[in-house]
Amino acid sequence: MRQAEEGRLEGKVILLAITGSIAAYKACEVLRRLQDLGADVRVTMTRNGAEFVTPMTFAALSGHRVISGSFEDPYPERLAHIRWAEGCDAFCVVPASADFIAKMAHGIADDFPSTLHLAVEGEVLVAPAMEDHMWAHPAVRDNVSILRSRGVHIIEPSSGYLASGRVGPGRLADPSEIVEAITSAVQAELPFDTGGWLSGQRVLVTAGPTREHIDPVRVITNPSSGKMGYALAEVARQLGAEVDLVSGPTLLADPPGVEVVRVATTGEMAEAVEARATGANIVVMAAAPADFRMPESHAYKVKKADVSGLSLELVPTPDILSRLADLPGDRLLVGFAAETSDLEEGAAEKMTRKGCDMIVANQVGVAGFGFEADANEVVILDRLGGRRQSGPAAKIKIAAAIWAAVEEFRERAAGGDSSSPG
Ligand code: CTP
Repeated sequence: MRQAEEGRLEGKVILLAITGSIAAYKACEVLRRLQDLGADVRVTMTRNGAEFVTPMTFAALSGHRVISGSFEDPYPERLAHIRWAEGCDAFCVVPASADFIAKMAHGIADDFPSTLHLAVEGEVLVAPAMEDHMWAHPAVRDNVSILRSRGVHIIEPSSGYLASGRVGPGRLADPSEIVEAITSAVQAELPFDTGGWLSGQRVLVTAGPTREHIDPVRVITNPSSGKMGYALAEVARQLGAEVDLVSGPTLLADPPGVEVVRVATTGEMAEAVEARATGANIVVMAAAPADFRMPESHAYKVKKADVSGLSLELVPTPDILSRLADLPGDRLLVGFAAETSDLEEGAAEKMTRKGCDMIVANQVGVAGFGFEADANEVVILDRLGGRRQSGPAAKIKIAAAIWAAVEEFRERAAGGDSSSPG
């Protein structure tokens, strides 16, 4: 292990839930690697999980008693699931069976691990392992979607030899990948001193796509997931701001402590933003509003049998960001630029044209980054000529880097220094 990696999980408490799968033995390696990084790991097992590897193995490795049933309480003075849940940094299900995923999705708490899941407040990660046709079953897909929409990290299974001898997706992810996912989820704290430097400030963030109806069942939209905007709102809140989040349709859960307004169309987003922008000190337009709409959408579903093709004549929607620049009052405006080519040139032109102080440029159309992904890579430009480039990172870390750039820009603008931060 590299020197710098040691201690990455120092002081962190990780709860490892082992459920019924042949891959349960691989959790021993995950446990060991987490300990190597400094974590204190506690293990809970379902009854089925304990059929594959004995609780004694995990007790010896972790140095803690392993709990399975709801009534094996080693802390009679306090309920164990509450005691374990308090102060834990992550609850990780490795491997996660289809049955346990279903229990998590529906809030069933009929043994110690599933009860613990409902009691924890830290990060929740799930590393599924099962036969390929079980993994593809609509019931499992739906349950996984429910968990994802609640912010649970799903560590995708890999493709390879399965317990049955078949080859396909459903194999537990590699232990090193699982440990990396747990480490980055737990370390999602900000890469700078939080110090509450946004306290007393009102921040308005927009996120997600918007939808413009063609008819009651067809829409014009784009693949924005809203993750970048939600991460920006969450971090702004952590930095002490009062945060309004105007969100287009997304599957994401409301970030804690943030006022969320949900809208559907670009017109509705414009209205919600304009109503809140005058009171805001900083506005970040991370949304991807649909740029065009029908002058008037069809009141009834257009029947395929009635038309040989469909040509749409569209009109532009309001450009929310450009309008904000003309609003009375003084606020810092941060735009986004999604570009497929000439990233920085296009972004710089957009910043000037739309009257923003800063613009966050990201390349779209690159697999693994941008619209629907969990990660992003951005260049941040400002009107004083500043330029910062992030490496590829989880959106929560990119959000932290953007807020750090905003703070640095404000200081530079206040000091009249137009030099680049380098
Ligand atoms: N934006 C907006 N209102 C719109 C469209 C975009 O406020 N109707 C904002 C976005 O939230 C983003 C910025 O404008 O902060 C740039 O969005 P982008 O999609 O990159 O640019 P467009 O203005 O749509 O230009 P083009 O499609 O020509 O690149």
